[in-house]
Amino acid sequence: MLRAAISPSLMCADIFNLRQIIRDFEKNSIEYLHIDVMDGEFVPNFCLGTDYCRRMKAETDIPLDIHLMVKNPLNKLEAFGFDEGDIVSVHYESQAKDDILPCFKKIRARGARPFLAINPDKSVEVLSEYFDEIDGVLLMTVFPGFAGQKMVEGSLERITALRRMLDESGHGNLSIEVDGNVNYEKAPLMRKAGADIFVVGTSSILGPGDLTENITKMRNLLG
Ligand code: DX5
Ligand code: ZN
Repeated sequence: MLRAAISPSLMCADIFNLRQIIRDFEKNSIEYLHIDVMDGEFVPNFCLGTDYCRRMKAETDIPLDIHLMVKNPLNKLEAFGFDEGDIVSVHYESQAKDDILPCFKKIRARGARPFLAINPDKSVEVLSEYFDEIDGVLLMTVFPGFAGQKMVEGSLERITALRRMLDESGHGNLSIEVDGNVNYEKAPLMRKAGADIFVVGTSSILGPGDLTENITKMRNLLG
């Protein structure tokens, strides 16, 4: 089983305390910083962007985990400051099928790690043809666009099904990243079902309570 990693959703972090929050993430060896990029078109919200990614890269060595919720990402990738070791996710639903592989190629060419993101209402079966080209799947457990939603029913079963597909096709080294309503109760169940990267926001570590205590609690639950 892949080691569990935590990727806090920065759209949920208090912008007025962001620098201190990043220092706390560093002290707690947080693995990734999840950055939600929303274009108001692919999703009905606007959020974070190119400057945010660039400033974050200059501020910390924690790898970025850029979640592009934008329509037709292929020609927009150049605008983003990512490089070696960062994760970049593009959505299956956001583009023409012919653009998906070229997106992965562009991401890989910069040393970053391509992930394919998928909405809760899309069958995980569509992912299998891309397994050879990606480092992981970003499995949405809410519909993308807003923090603070409830997990879509059937999400645990989708994780289980995808983990089985990966293992049975010889792609057990691929990550399953879960995003949306990852709370203290559901995270261990998601872990058991086969997820290994956990996007955590208002439902857990960036909700009420002390940040370091919240991270410790989540780590203990993930094992
Ligand atoms: C969606 C975002 C948020 C994130 C927020 O792409 O990344 O939905 O999950 O965390 P929660 O769901 O805990 O508010
Ligand atoms: Zn996200």
